[in-house]
Amino acid sequence: MTDIQELLLSRIRDVADYPEPGVMFKDITPLLADPAAFTALTDALAETVERTGATKVVGLEARGFILGAPVAVRAGVGFIPVRKAGKLPGATLRQAYDLEYGSAEIEVHAEDLTEGDRVLVVDDVLATGGTAEASLELIRRAGAQVAGVTVLMELAFLNGRARLEAALAGAPLEAL
Ligand code: PRP
Repeated sequence: MTDIQELLLSRIRDVADYPEPGVMFKDITPLLADPAAFTALTDALAETVERTGATKVVGLEARGFILGAPVAVRAGVGFIPVRKAGKLPGATLRQAYDLEYGSAEIEVHAEDLTEGDRVLVVDDVLATGGTAEASLELIRRAGAQVAGVTVLMELAFLNGRARLEAALAGAPLEAL
C-alpha cells in the first residue's frame, strides 16, 4: 500500500449497521475534514483526468459531487452533475437502473455532454456498480466517449467491476 493509500484509508470511518442492520457504511467525512487527505485525494484523481485524456468530469450525486468538483477545477476541465431524477431544471437524458429491491433513475442535462467529449466518472464508492453503469449509459446515449470510471473505494465483494465491463468497453476502472 502506498503512503497516500494509507493516509486515505486511515480517514475512512466504518459505521456498523448504517443505513440498515448488517451494512458496514464507509463514511468519508473524516477524510473531507482533513485538508492533507482531501488534497491528496483531489490530486490523485486529477492525475487520472490527465492520464485518461478526459475533457469533462461527471460526478454522481451526492458524494461524487464533493469529490468530482475540486478534481475538475484542479484538472482544468468542466464538471457535469449526474443527479437523481427530478432535480435538474433543463432538458435531460434519464436512465433507469435496478437496485437490490426496486429501481432508481438518474439524469444529466442533455446539453452538458456532446460528441466531442471524453468523460471521466468520479464517485466515492463502487458497490454493485448500478449507478456507475447507468452513468456510462447516459454518456454513451449523449454520443460522448467514456474515458473511464474512478472511485475512492471499490467494494470488490459486490462485483461491480464485472457489472461495468460491457459499459466500459475497454475504458479503465480505477479504485484508489
Ligand atoms: C452511493 C455511492 C455511489 C453508489 C454506489 O450513493 O455514493 O454513488 O451508492 O452504489 P452502487 O455501485 O451499488 O450503485 P447513494 O445512492 O447512497 O447516494 P448519496 O451519495 O446521495 O447518499
